[in-house]
Amino acid sequence: MRWTLLLAGGLALACAGCLRVPAGIEPVAGFELPRYLGRWYEIARLDHPFERGMDNVTAEYSLREDGSLRVLNRGYLRARGEWREAEGRARFVRDPGTGFLKVSFFGPFYGSYVIFDLDHEDYQWAFVAGPSRRYLWLLARSPEIGTAVRGHFLDRAAALGFPVDGLIFVAHGDLPADNPMEELTMIELPKPALDGPMSVERALHLRRSTRAYKNEPLRLAELAQLLWAAQGITDEQGHRTAPSAGATYPLEVFVVANTVEGLAAGLYHYRPHEHRLELLRTGQLAGPLARASLDQSMLRDAAAVLVFAAVFERTTARYGARGERYVHNEIGHASQNVHLQAVALNLGTVVVGAFRDEEVAQALRLGDPHRVLYLMPVGRL
Ligand SMILES: Cc1cc2nc3c(=O)[nH]c(=O)nc-3n(C[C@H](O)[C@H](O)[C@H](O)COP(=O)(O)O)c2cc1C
Repeated sequence: MRWTLLLAGGLALACAGCLRVPAGIEPVAGFELPRYLGRWYEIARLDHPFERGMDNVTAEYSLREDGSLRVLNRGYLRARGEWREAEGRARFVRDPGTGFLKVSFFGPFYGSYVIFDLDHEDYQWAFVAGPSRRYLWLLARSPEIGTAVRGHFLDRAAALGFPVDGLIFVAHGDLPADNPMEELTMIELPKPALDGPMSVERALHLRRSTRAYKNEPLRLAELAQLLWAAQGITDEQGHRTAPSAGATYPLEVFVVANTVEGLAAGLYHYRPHEHRLELLRTGQLAGPLARASLDQSMLRDAAAVLVFAAVFERTTARYGARGERYVHNEIGHASQNVHLQAVALNLGTVVVGAFRDEEVAQALRLGDPHRVLYLMPVGRL
């Protein structure tokens, strides 16, 4: 089912005038697109026919090969018990450092998308306007926001002349158990333990690379704990278990599940903010991955392989060439966390850096903007 127009502000007007910025409102400067990519939750909006009756609204931004932005909007039309989604394309109107984009869901017709306030530090919230003050959205990285951000949004929007009395705050959650879109592709992970019987000193002392594992499945809770150790969220600001240069978070962790209880064999993506796995593809990938990695057999034998990839642009956009070094630093932090967590869970692992980049990318179909840097097979000892 197609659902058009969401977050394409003035698109209904479909005219050149739709690329206006409302008078007196300035798009943010110092905008960094790589940090804006990924999923946003719609927290509040001025309502429009194209979003009427929808809750659980999200927008997902990713890069296309031609340099434009893929926009995927989703929402739940509660009265009908249906999900709607619309895919569009966005481009910068001015330079890529200015938060002013044009979004199109139909051919050549574009509407304004003006980011007029932004959490420049951590990219956790954004205020977005369309071509006039009739269009306003508050987007955030998690479905709940603190009172400080909400207050700032209402004050700022009122001061800029938006009709804030008309705002609706969008419900997230309360979805039917047979929610097909989420059920099929999203796997809730068991909550990570924040304490355990083994000291850090003991884990450091015991840590060893291991390459032979029992032919036994991994429990989902064990995999969840390892993923949390790699990139889990540890405070309300979205900071993580591993440090990140300027909180740019270039790392993405994928999982090749071979034998994990509760997971079909396939490729998954870890979403730290939701502590969920997104199923990308089912199928046995361990064999192709091992072949792409100089036939290192532990990749075939492991119950699961954690695949560490990086989106370098998130960090180089801020730090230039030096950002490359920072990404390599970060992969060390995250993988060591997993190493120590594996010891504490009595699981075996090793970091694998010897593989053919193109073949791994091909086997996993993980191309631009991701670059795979490390593989960590995990199995029971
Ligand atoms: C950058 C890097 C790349 C590595 N690549 C591989 C690899 O491809 N295959 C492998 O079996 N071990 C790999 N290792 C693991 C090392 O062989 C291992 O850390 C080393 O033998 C020391 O053993 P220990 O980790 O038990 O202390 C790699 C380690 C590092 C730091």
